[in-house]
Amino acid sequence: MTTPQPAASGRGSRRTATVTGLALAAALLTAVPATSAPSGSAAATGALAAPDIPLANVKAHLTQLQSIATANGGNRAHGRPGYKASIDYVRAKLDAAGFTTSLQQFSSSGATGYNLIADWPGGDPNQVLMAGAHLDSVSSGPGINDNGSGSAAVLETALAVSRAQLQPAKHLRFAWWGAEELGLVGSKYYVNNLPTTERARIAGYINLDMVGSPNPGYFVYDDDPAIEKVFKDWYAGIGVPTEIETEGDGRSDHAAFKNAGIPVGGLFTGASRTKTAAQATKWGGTAGQAFDRCYHSSCDTTANINDTALDRNSDALAHAVWTLGTGTTPPPGTTFENTADVAIPDNGAAVTSTVQVTGRTGNAPAALRVGVDIKHTWRGDLVVDLLAPDGTAYRLKNSSSSDSADNVITTYTVDASAEQANGDWRLRVQDVAAQDTGYIDSWKLTF
Ligand code: TRP
Ligand code: ZN
Ligand code: CA
Repeated sequence: MTTPQPAASGRGSRRTATVTGLALAAALLTAVPATSAPSGSAAATGALAAPDIPLANVKAHLTQLQSIATANGGNRAHGRPGYKASIDYVRAKLDAAGFTTSLQQFSSSGATGYNLIADWPGGDPNQVLMAGAHLDSVSSGPGINDNGSGSAAVLETALAVSRAQLQPAKHLRFAWWGAEELGLVGSKYYVNNLPTTERARIAGYINLDMVGSPNPGYFVYDDDPAIEKVFKDWYAGIGVPTEIETEGDGRSDHAAFKNAGIPVGGLFTGASRTKTAAQATKWGGTAGQAFDRCYHSSCDTTANINDTALDRNSDALAHAVWTLGTGTTPPPGTTFENTADVAIPDNGAAVTSTVQVTGRTGNAPAALRVGVDIKHTWRGDLVVDLLAPDGTAYRLKNSSSSDSADNVITTYTVDASAEQANGDWRLRVQDVAAQDTGYIDSWKLTF
């Protein structure tokens, strides 16, 4: 039996994706249909799998923080003895596990505040991955969800790093901030007092503030695309839908990092906002009730925690630290490529192909190289643009009724210095004249 073969009609008939010669670029490839969300993060490759974080361990830290509050007038607020006792508890665990810890003192509202910083020895000092949480409560309660939950999840993730004796590619640094409840005081103090060279070394900051709300939502910060994707992928893997965090952007300790141009991300299960009916349908819990009815109240105790939410977010954080910390970030000059074919409808609507750029800091190059490989039987039909992550279009090629040559196989140079480097870049191609057709074979960006 013979299988009918298409006639070898020459140009335009080959539909196989080009194979890149660069093993690295192949590993980083984000090949997706233009209409779907990108998949296959280029953030880091070769990452190790994270361990499961034992919920019992995280809860044991909360029990200790509750006892500290109870023994100290019912709170762990800035300037009160319960805050310093919380710091001492967390620091002792980290010291025993082999971290290099330091206390940073600052003054706020006439009282001394403390940030606790814990460095895990090793990793690239020029690529520091940070995760942090504020350790202070408001004065009206023990602050177990806000933010014993984030503090305990970050602590137990750090202890898991020690148990694994992890040798990450990036240097790992964990932080517990003081005086968040007075206006993000500790984290601002830390960022503002970092020498510029140290600041430039921070590859990312992950914030956990309120991750065990009793009527939980699953919110992911919509900031750095690579960090966001790691969290979204983890949640997708367990089949739990997430939403973008919108209950006050900049209302927690990631704000100072973000303002300094450092990539940030984080997790949140909701504060005083009300869970909608649609949210209760997808997440369970009670519609028409706050995510945390005890927010900033005396009832924010160990009873004010949803175990499932706390467990998931602790595991999600460990996953992010392992994925982003043990994978290698593509070095400068890396090619990000999409080799998936995209058909260009004849004299029709524009089509796009997406390349996700991650692991960069700051803006795109002034001489960004855009390699385009479009197969077409009359290239004069084609209008081609590069779209930056924010949607800004850069015209690469206009149509021309007189240009009857085949194919657009060339490298354009674009001044993209006004654009943030990280994010989804798209090649947009439109065929504006009838008869001749073609497809995007592949395209790539070199950052
Ligand atoms: N600690 C924050 C606060 O008291 C809680 C909070 C409210 C929050 N909205 C947020 C934390 C959004 C992260 C993201 O304001
Ligand atoms: Zn708070
Ligand atoms: Ca055409």
